[in-house]
Amino acid sequence: MDRDWLWWQHGVIYQIYPRSFYDSNQDGIGDIQGIIDKLDYIQDLGFDAIWISPINSSPMHDFGYDISDYRSIDPLFGTNKEFYDLVKQAHKRKIRIIMDLVVNHSSHQHPWFLESASSRDNPKADWYIWQDPRNGREPNNWLAAFGGKAWQWNAARQQYYLHTHLMEQPDFNWRNPELRKAIFNDIKFWLDKGVDGFRLDVINFLLKDRELRNNPFTFRGPSPRPYDLQAHIYDRNQPENLEIMTELRRLSDQYRDRMLVGEVYAPRPDPQLSASYVGDGRNMLHMAFDFSIIYQKKWHARSFINPVQRWYELLPPQAWPCHVLSNHDQPRSRSRFGGGKENEKRARVAAAFLLTIRGTPFIYYGEELGMYNGKIARSQLQDPVGKKYWPLHPGRDPERTPMLWSNQKNAGFSSQEPWLPLNEGWQSQNVEVQQADPDSLLNFHKRLIHIRKKSKALMQGDWKLEADGSQNYLAYSRTWQKESVLVLLNFDSKTKRIQLTHKRYRALFGTHVIPAQEMRQGPWQLRPYEVLILSIKSD
Ligand code: GLC
Ligand code: CA
Repeated sequence: MDRDWLWWQHGVIYQIYPRSFYDSNQDGIGDIQGIIDKLDYIQDLGFDAIWISPINSSPMHDFGYDISDYRSIDPLFGTNKEFYDLVKQAHKRKIRIIMDLVVNHSSHQHPWFLESASSRDNPKADWYIWQDPRNGREPNNWLAAFGGKAWQWNAARQQYYLHTHLMEQPDFNWRNPELRKAIFNDIKFWLDKGVDGFRLDVINFLLKDRELRNNPFTFRGPSPRPYDLQAHIYDRNQPENLEIMTELRRLSDQYRDRMLVGEVYAPRPDPQLSASYVGDGRNMLHMAFDFSIIYQKKWHARSFINPVQRWYELLPPQAWPCHVLSNHDQPRSRSRFGGGKENEKRARVAAAFLLTIRGTPFIYYGEELGMYNGKIARSQLQDPVGKKYWPLHPGRDPERTPMLWSNQKNAGFSSQEPWLPLNEGWQSQNVEVQQADPDSLLNFHKRLIHIRKKSKALMQGDWKLEADGSQNYLAYSRTWQKESVLVLLNFDSKTKRIQLTHKRYRALFGTHVIPAQEMRQGPWQLRPYEVLILSIKSD
C-alpha cells in the first residue's frame, strides 16, 4: 500500500550559510537578495528545500546564533519584506524554506534579556537562568562550550546568569511558562508567514537540572578543551526536554506540511540520543541529525555503512532518517576524505552514498563543487571559537568561506572583499567552470539528484544491504513495489570482483563508462572508486 509521502521525506535539502552564499549589495557579506538571485541555480540542481542558518537580528557575536529579535531580519541580510519575497519566489519554484531556530539562548542584547537583567523583580526576571553566588563564587562548576565558565556576573542584579556558549548568549529559562509562550508566539509568527519548518539549534540543551548540580569530571572527554572534560549530565539532555519536543510538534501540526529537524548536539556520535528526539516518529521532531559520519575520521566503506545501519536500527518504525556529510560547524567532508590524488573520486563515492541510502540527504553549500576547507590566517579569524582556541582548534571559519561562483573578481561572490578569504584554487573550482564540464562533481550531483527524484525506490523504498563493507565496497538494494535498484560503491583503489545475483539489470548511472546493453547474472568487476547504479529487471 502506498501512503502519503511528505515533501521532506522525498526531498533533498540544501544548507546555506547566508553570510557566504552570494552578496547582492556589494558589502562583502552574503544576503537574502543573494539567495533569491541564486534560486535558479538551486532549482536546477534539483533541491526541494533550503535551510538557511540564522538571519534574524543579531549583534553577530556568534554570527547570528545570538538573536536579539526573533521577528525581524538582520539589516545585514536584508529586510523582512525581502525575506517574504524569498519565501514567495522559492515556493514558486517548489522550493521550501527552513529557518534556523535558536532558542536555547538569545543575544544578551535581546530586549527580554535587558529587562531581565535590569532588576530582580521585573516581569521577565525569571526568563533567563539567574543565580546567587555560592560561597562568593559561581553557583556550580559548569563550563561554557566556547571557553571559560558558564556563569557571568551581573552587577545590577548582583547575580550570575548562565550562558552555555558565549557570555553574549544567555540561556533561557525554559521552566518559565511565560517565556515558553513568548517563544512559541515567535515561532507562530514565522509559520504564519509561510515558512516550511525549522532546524532547531542545540535542541537538547533547553532545560537544565532543577538543582543545578555540579557536572562530574571525566578523563574520557572527546577533546582536551576543558568543557569536554566534564560529563554533561546536568546541563544538557534532561528528559524534560522531550516534553517540549511534543509541544513543538503539536504547534507544527496545526499547520500543513511543516517540518522540524533537530540538532541534537553531542561532541561524539550519539545516535541513540538523537533518536530519542523524534519520539515514536510522530509525536516529537520530524527528523534529527545523526553526526556519526561527520565525526568519522577513517575513509572506509564501513565508516559510512556502520553508522547508517545503527541509525536505522535506533529509529522507531514510524520515524524517518536524514543524513549529512558536512555543516557549518565541522570541517568540510571533502577535506576529511583524504586520499591525495584520489580525493575527488572519494567525494563522488560519498555523494552517491548520501543520495542513495534511505533517508533525507542534506547538502552543505559548496559540497556539490567539492569545496575544501579554507585556509585562514590567524589575523583573518572571525569565529569566536577559533579566536579562543587557535591554534589548538582553528575554529569554524574554514568551512564557512565564500561560495565559489565564477572566474570573476572574488569568485563572483562579491565585488568587495569577502568577509572571509576565498579558497585557494577558486579559479578552477567554481560553479561556472563545473557547469561547463559535463563530468564535473557539480554535474555528478545534479544527475544523481535527478535520478533519485525519478525513482520511488530511491526516495522511499526499502533498504537491503547486500555487501557489508568489510571488503571496502558496498552493495545495497532499494525496492519499492515492482521497482528495484542496486547501488554498488567501491570505496577502494583496487578492483573488486562481485557477483550479480539477479537475472537481468540495466545500468542507470555510473562514474565509469557503463554498459549500454542489459547486464546479466554472474561475476562483475567493480573498478577503483566506481559508482554503479543498476535497475534490477523483474522477469
Ligand atoms: C549550534 C550551531 C553553532 C552555534 C551553537 C550555538 O551548535 O550549529 O553554529 O555556534 O549552536 O548557538
Ligand atoms: Ca551583502
